[in-house]
Amino acid sequence: MARLRRMYARLLFVVVGIFGPLLALFRLFRPGFGTPPWLPLRLRIYAGGMNEAIRPGPENPSQAAGLPQLSVIVPTFNERDNVTTLLRQLETALTGVLWEVIFVDDNSPDGTWEVVRALARQDSRVRCIRRIGRRGLSGACIEGILASSAPCAAVIDADLQHDETQLPKMLALLQGGEADLVVGSRYIEGGSADSFNKSRAGASALATEVAKRVLRVKIADPMSGFFMIRRDRFEQLAPQLSTQGFKILLDIVATARGELRIKEIPFTFGSRLHGESKLDSMVALDFLGLVLAKLTHDVVSLRFLLFAMVGSLGLFVHLAVLFISLRIFDMPFPEAQACGALLAMTSNFILNNFLTYRDQRLKGFAILRGLLLFYLVCSVGLFANVGVAFSVYDQEPVWWLAGAAGALMGVVWNYAMSGLFVWRKR
Ligand code: GDD
Ligand code: MN
Repeated sequence: MARLRRMYARLLFVVVGIFGPLLALFRLFRPGFGTPPWLPLRLRIYAGGMNEAIRPGPENPSQAAGLPQLSVIVPTFNERDNVTTLLRQLETALTGVLWEVIFVDDNSPDGTWEVVRALARQDSRVRCIRRIGRRGLSGACIEGILASSAPCAAVIDADLQHDETQLPKMLALLQGGEADLVVGSRYIEGGSADSFNKSRAGASALATEVAKRVLRVKIADPMSGFFMIRRDRFEQLAPQLSTQGFKILLDIVATARGELRIKEIPFTFGSRLHGESKLDSMVALDFLGLVLAKLTHDVVSLRFLLFAMVGSLGLFVHLAVLFISLRIFDMPFPEAQACGALLAMTSNFILNNFLTYRDQRLKGFAILRGLLLFYLVCSVGLFANVGVAFSVYDQEPVWWLAGAAGALMGVVWNYAMSGLFVWRKR
């Protein structure tokens, strides 16, 4: 192990020693040249030479041109009554700083985006991204940061639970070059989350512990939703981040694998101004999915596992219906079998719509169309299943091996096709 590590270090040394200067030269002659994504983050930062962008002082070009130094990203869903107050508080907290605010609203039924749009018509620092057909806190934050242009980007809740008066301090830490990421932390000296009820506090503590142990994340509050990051660093990590779920900070820290310099500052997690929390018990699933994805280097996704789980449940439904039809209703076998398959597919569809594809849930008329497509996908899947099972059995007449191979083929096919046709990303 140690020898391997030494070899890796040596290799890195040679690569950096030779390619580093070459890369630097290359950049001199081709200023638009981007750094390759396969370099370790630290090298990319070195090669990228993007430090000048946030150097403080009068030579800072953005300050001279009146361009924002800080972009504040506010994800919103049904926060109509909170956004105006937040904007006023940002104005007060950020006097002396050039800033902009980007609200990312997932087409809130309460029309939050209309309120933000109206604010934006009075103040050019305010922008609104209205996302249609998508839901999710992480995805909203990612899109917001990617739509920003200031060298530093902060993420803050719309409901005033986070402490916006900490923003200047966070910005100073980034601009001073002491950190790449500053986290507003509830779990360090001086911070608190007293507004949490018992069960929420317990869940938060458990998730934090799991994140620290399993993903080896070293910060005290990886579950925080309040943080500020250098945009260039974020942009390097963005392609690997998950848009599902709500643990964007944990994702950033776990994906960076120790290559971000992180500082935590304490803050008190307050009470919600208006409205209610959007985090339901299902967020536990999202959390599990993120941990799983990061552990397996994005090979296994929670969506696939859920899909397979729902599929196995479908087998039980099928057998139960078959049993009842045969024994209680005295049906002939082919009809009973068909009933079983139809009901199993229907229950699978409903469960997948509620669980597996919860963020893309079909509603109204789309449910019927989706269900018919799902029947179609599953029928073809059955052919694929039987075909593979037959050919395996032909080679190796072991019933369980052939059966399992067929079932695997079936679930992979159904999963892939359902994602393509039934719960299509918009
Ligand atoms: N665009 C968009 N889409 N915004 C969303 C969505 C969504 O699907 N879900 C929630 N939001 C917005 C809310 O409108 C709010 O501004 C912010 O994201 C946080 O959501 P809350 O519903 O207020 O969450 P919370 O207060 O229970 O949880 C907060 O604290 C946790 C710490 O325990 C969040 O900041 C979490 O990220 C954080 O982990
Ligand atoms: Mn909140």
